[in-house]
Amino acid sequence: MRDFTFWNPTKLIFGKGQLEQLKKEIPQYGKKILLVYGGGSIKRSGLYDQVKALLAEIGAEVFELPGVEPNPRITTARKGIEICKKEGIEFLLAVGGGSVIDCTKLIAAGAKYEGDAWDFVIKKAFATDALPLGTVLTLAATGSEMNAGSVITNWETSEKYGWGSAVNYPKFSILDPVNTFTVPRDQTIYGICDMMSHVFEHYFHLEEHTEYQDRMCESLLLTVMETAPKLLADLENYEHRATILYCGTMALNGILNMGYRGDWASHDLEHAVSAVYDIPHGGGLAILFPNWMKHNLAVKPERFQQLAVRVFNVDPEGKTAEEAGLEGIQKLREFWDSIGAPARLADYEIDDSKLDVMVDRAMLNGDFGTFKKLNRKDVESIYRASL
Ligand code: NZQ
Ligand code: ZN
Repeated sequence: MRDFTFWNPTKLIFGKGQLEQLKKEIPQYGKKILLVYGGGSIKRSGLYDQVKALLAEIGAEVFELPGVEPNPRITTARKGIEICKKEGIEFLLAVGGGSVIDCTKLIAAGAKYEGDAWDFVIKKAFATDALPLGTVLTLAATGSEMNAGSVITNWETSEKYGWGSAVNYPKFSILDPVNTFTVPRDQTIYGICDMMSHVFEHYFHLEEHTEYQDRMCESLLLTVMETAPKLLADLENYEHRATILYCGTMALNGILNMGYRGDWASHDLEHAVSAVYDIPHGGGLAILFPNWMKHNLAVKPERFQQLAVRVFNVDPEGKTAEEAGLEGIQKLREFWDSIGAPARLADYEIDDSKLDVMVDRAMLNGDFGTFKKLNRKDVESIYRASL
């Protein structure tokens, strides 16, 4: 385990009816609010009306940026930045899933920057200041509600990258499981695959002596795998929605990976696919991650064996670490199949016709990954295995 400093300033407000806390949390930051949301789910669920009523109660002057896309676009963030600069916005409220929150993070930093906010995404500039933002989360998946990351797509150039800065942390995030009741079945599945993938990204590292971290990761995976089928059989079950919501946040708020850095190549592989084909992030991961695992099994078979035995109940008796590890990967595939996650790029009608473009996108910044640095040949081989 390496030396580390843990710092996460986001106030997490969890539970039924907690939306009321907006009245207590927002006034300290100002009255001019930019309300950011997606394609309309919050209007259909009634959450939009509830938020507007609470903002009216505190006398807020509300501006709106609707229409943030899944895989949020730089063009939409630019619109938000323009509103902030023109209207002197003091606080940003994101109401939605990871896409809405990620877009809001870029708007918040872009509002304090003279240049084009895309500079932050391509790491040409580093964000050192931002408007304060808060979130009301409606979808359990990304962990964006309690982390400093943001993932933005530039559709004109087919680029999708994650960027981060400490200024991105939400001041608060309100997580009411009831607000996730309306998440459709497919998005619920994608969210489950995404949060499990975050744990896998942490898990595959080359550091020694991360016994406690390993157990925390394994515990989260076991909890999600135990709860997912129950939730999918009963999408409005409060307790199961609550468990999955909590797991989604814990999977990517820095708590699981103190003292080491995980791999993150599978996320880069997925971002390159969805930059070209605009597929759901969690769906892409469900296809790619088991193939990344198979490709890298030989790097440190004991790590795969440990995962297989402790999480996928594989009996290691009479098997090499590699054999047991492979059985674990197969069990992961079976679990994701059992909940209805996609297994092949063909499920999104992706064939090899743009394989070179995807590989080019993935390789734009050179070899990547920490458990195993992937080169062009590796990337092509993982994509081919996923077709
Ligand atoms: O746009 P609306 O109408 O709100 O509908 C959304 C969208 O169509 C819908 N939805 C959300 N909450 C709902 C709901 N529908 C009904 N009821 C509700 N309560 O779900 C659809 C998908 O929403 P989106 O926000 O795109 O999903 P998710 O939270 O999975 O976010 C995905 C994005 O986050 C990025 C991904 O790359 C992708 O761009 N990521 C961000 C990370 C981070 N910031 O830390 C890490 C992740 O690994 C990920 O890369
Ligand atoms: Zn993810």
